[in-house]
Amino acid sequence: MAETAQLKIGDKTFELPVIEGTEGEKAIDISKLRDQTGYVTLDIGYKNTGATKSAITFLDGEQGILKYRGYPIEQLAEKSSFIEVAYLLIYGELPTADQLKAFQYELSRHTLVHEDMKKFFDGFPSKSHPMGQLSSLVSALSAFYPESLKPSQTTEELNQSIIKMLAKMATVVSWIYKKSLGHPVIYPKNKYDYVTNFLYMTFGQRTEDVTIDPVVIDAMNKLLILHADHEQNCSASTVRIVGSSDSNIYASVSAGISALWGPLHGGANQAVIEMLEKIKEDGGDTDKWIAKAKDKNDPFRLMGFGHRVYKNFDPRAKIIKKACDDILEKLGINDEVLEIAKKLEEVALKDPYFVERKLYPNVDFYSGIIYRALGFPTDMFTVLFALGRLPGWIAQWKEMKENKEPIGRPRQIYVGATSKEYVDIANR
Ligand code: CMC
Repeated sequence: MAETAQLKIGDKTFELPVIEGTEGEKAIDISKLRDQTGYVTLDIGYKNTGATKSAITFLDGEQGILKYRGYPIEQLAEKSSFIEVAYLLIYGELPTADQLKAFQYELSRHTLVHEDMKKFFDGFPSKSHPMGQLSSLVSALSAFYPESLKPSQTTEELNQSIIKMLAKMATVVSWIYKKSLGHPVIYPKNKYDYVTNFLYMTFGQRTEDVTIDPVVIDAMNKLLILHADHEQNCSASTVRIVGSSDSNIYASVSAGISALWGPLHGGANQAVIEMLEKIKEDGGDTDKWIAKAKDKNDPFRLMGFGHRVYKNFDPRAKIIKKACDDILEKLGINDEVLEIAKKLEEVALKDPYFVERKLYPNVDFYSGIIYRALGFPTDMFTVLFALGRLPGWIAQWKEMKENKEPIGRPRQIYVGATSKEYVDIANR
């Protein structure tokens, strides 16, 4: 017999179905709760709420496990390219060699963005934050590719929207970087694969071919793979909820970019480097900063530490820490803040405050050190997270559409004033 949960309210008992995911995760299905009982649930921050059934990414926060479509993140980070992982997330299976070639070819046909988009760049102040630019520019793409606005697209139309979104994002991100330098933009060269093309448009020169160091290409692939999806996080949930109103892919992804920007989410990678630099300038006394992080009267938090779901090592952090050592060594870079980061981690992992709260380094603790070694300025870090997360957002958006999920619309418990009589302004 199927398992059920019983809910007792007053003298009435209600049976609620229990459902189980393929990895043994259990949930009480409350989708009919209000109709049956007149009650809703309250779960601020959705800490206990499964918002959907998804077949894209599995993570077990207690064990520190992360899989995309069933494949362990460790294997994908070691063996795959970013574009192969993007295909896996979006279409559900690893591509064959022919499928990968066709995918890469399709992407390379759409790397150009409409020339008029360049006028938007001129409108942004040169020091404006790249994330603000990115979310505006991605939303603006909808004006140039209006065929994506159709709420019910055929499979082929939907696929074209997906390809354009992926292809144009790399160009837009690299152009944001060029703009920050005041340099002219570099047009894509379609003979390069996705990641190499991105690095070429970012670090290349206008007139010349470039040879990008394979160490840099590998590192970039790895970082993008590690960020590619993370199930129902703040930005993915935003993308799904915006898309659930039948908003187009550009509007949905643009909203996801805005959600990612905050320092509690993707913006943590920028915040970590700024924190490490501050600790360095302050003399490198890690004990002092750990004490600040523990002090409830001090707003300082150890950035890059803690996670809503991981109550164990974030498996991505383990891979990045190792990659960080390797890449800095291969590039011959000695970055003092890496030592500070390692010391902070060591102290925090032994400190009862962090141990009791199960706070471990997350994906962003070491990623910024690698981005910096590759030559990116600090305020570009979260934009790189967005570039990596894009296939995940697309996969979540596509799944939500294919599942024909209803518009996202939570309830609330109203705690405001009840009835008040209107008072004319002269008498207030
Ligand atoms: N430094 C010091 N204390 C912390 C930290 C931290 N980084 N993170 C959590 N805590 C404490 C928090 O004060 C609370 O203590 P108490 O129970 O005494 O009030 C307890 O740990 C639980 O924290 P919470 O804020 O209730 O946990 P949450 O699940 O709501 O927040 C988080 C998760 C990631 C927002 C939080 O850990 C945080 O602010 N970390 C720093 C920012 C960061 O690195 N964010 C990147 C997350 S990974 C990238 C991504 O996918 O977005």
